[in-house]
Amino acid sequence: MAVLNVLEYPDPALRVDASEVSEFGDELKKLVADLWETMYLSKGVGLAAPQVGRPVRLFVADWEGNRRVVANPSIIEIEGTERVDEGCLSFPGIYEEVTRPARIRIIYRDENGERRDETAEGYLARVFAHETDHLNGRLLIDNLSALKRAFIRKKMSRKSRER
Ligand code: NI
Repeated sequence: MAVLNVLEYPDPALRVDASEVSEFGDELKKLVADLWETMYLSKGVGLAAPQVGRPVRLFVADWEGNRRVVANPSIIEIEGTERVDEGCLSFPGIYEEVTRPARIRIIYRDENGERRDETAEGYLARVFAHETDHLNGRLLIDNLSALKRAFIRKKMSRKSRER
């Protein structure tokens, strides 16, 4: 296992439209293991492959012990809305209220390529929606008001100049 470098906004690789996972073999399992290690070290609750520069439709999530490996997800039903603070490992130190569905139904493949059909609620639904956004190049900042976006853009570009 290895700890991977998590890309931070405004890295253009975060805007990728990721490709489907087609092979569920050892290479995928290694990437999954590295995503877990990186996510836990960073104290995140989810991490998507594009955030470590791997443009494939894959993420890992662990919300209160609900551990999921999700490949090729499709959110096929959404219900209700909830407005809660959320963060993202690609926006360190930033937490903003984002409106998300209260309940989602998601179909995906697990790390063995088995089809899963799951209905999630509350924060787990939020994590699934947030991570699925990453696979389409959509980021936390895109769900905020223009004013907040401008503020975060300024804050993040100051940080990237300091590095
Ligand atoms: Ni994120």
